Amino acid sequence: GRVAVLAGGWSSERQVALWSGEGIHAALVAKGVDATLIDATPEIVLNLGRQGYDRVFNILHGTGGEDGTVQAALDLQNIPYTGSGVLASALAMDKLRTKRLWKAEGLPTPEWLWIEHEADLTTAVERLGLPLIIKPSEEGSSVGVSKVKHADQLHVAWQLARGSDGAGDDRVVMAERFIGGGTQGHEFTCAILDGVALPTIRIEPDGEFYDYNAKYLSDNTRYHCPSGLDAELEAQVQAICLRAFRLLGARGWGRVDFMLDADDRPWLIEANLVPGMTSHSLVPMAAKARGIDYPELCWTILEGTLP
Ligand code: DAL
Ligand code: MG
Repeated sequence: GRVAVLAGGWSSERQVALWSGEGIHAALVAKGVDATLIDATPEIVLNLGRQGYDRVFNILHGTGGEDGTVQAALDLQNIPYTGSGVLASALAMDKLRTKRLWKAEGLPTPEWLWIEHEADLTTAVERLGLPLIIKPSEEGSSVGVSKVKHADQLHVAWQLARGSDGAGDDRVVMAERFIGGGTQGHEFTCAILDGVALPTIRIEPDGEFYDYNAKYLSDNTRYHCPSGLDAELEAQVQAICLRAFRLLGARGWGRVDFMLDADDRPWLIEANLVPGMTSHSLVPMAAKARGIDYPELCWTILEGTLP
């Protein structure tokens, strides 16, 4: 059958989704799959069924493609797609509600505050301390995220997160306690494939945190996979990440990001249900550590659409 690789799209992560899509399309074609790379628009998504596609590899990151909207459009056309369905996607895209759910279920996630008005920033500093993270609740690739070390950086961080610099329109903003520790701010992630947690990755960012530059542009970001955690801790964090993924009702594949504090206790940051698949991306790295090369990984994710 014919496969539509939905890439690009209309979110702030459009460029990332083009990079991911190009990689996946090339890999699927090399595997002999009849695949077409599509720079998605709402119009195209709504008419895919009529174009004769049998299934979709959805690699649209962020707004539209990762938040349940495209998933609903495909459900209505009876087109199977990779990854999670409407509810899990909508939940995972919303970091505030993801954290409420995890906390209610006893999973560790750093203390946070919804920043409804700029004045709430003061409360955030009082309750969460400095440094703290200010970020939009529903973005990806660290778009709009700041690590605030001094109170005089709060105003700019608020504007950046909110999108009032013109990048977005009145996004929902949150503050989150920054988890630093024995690993000096290294970030961790656990990729999930077919209901199995892959080896974790430890990231040494180029700069204050693993921001957009460190993710896609820098050659100075250092990745460690395996991450160097002892076997017991590795198994423990994999189990927690898998549970966090399942609690959202996610399926197929994804990636759960976390940090470790000074006592090596894990804190869940967020779940990504259409994670990056670029040449710099983390899921391909974790799969490789398990002996799964990039084309095989793409094939395995696509197989999730088969009955
Ligand atoms: N949001 C980016 C694509 C990621 O999680 O990898
Ligand atoms: Mg994300």
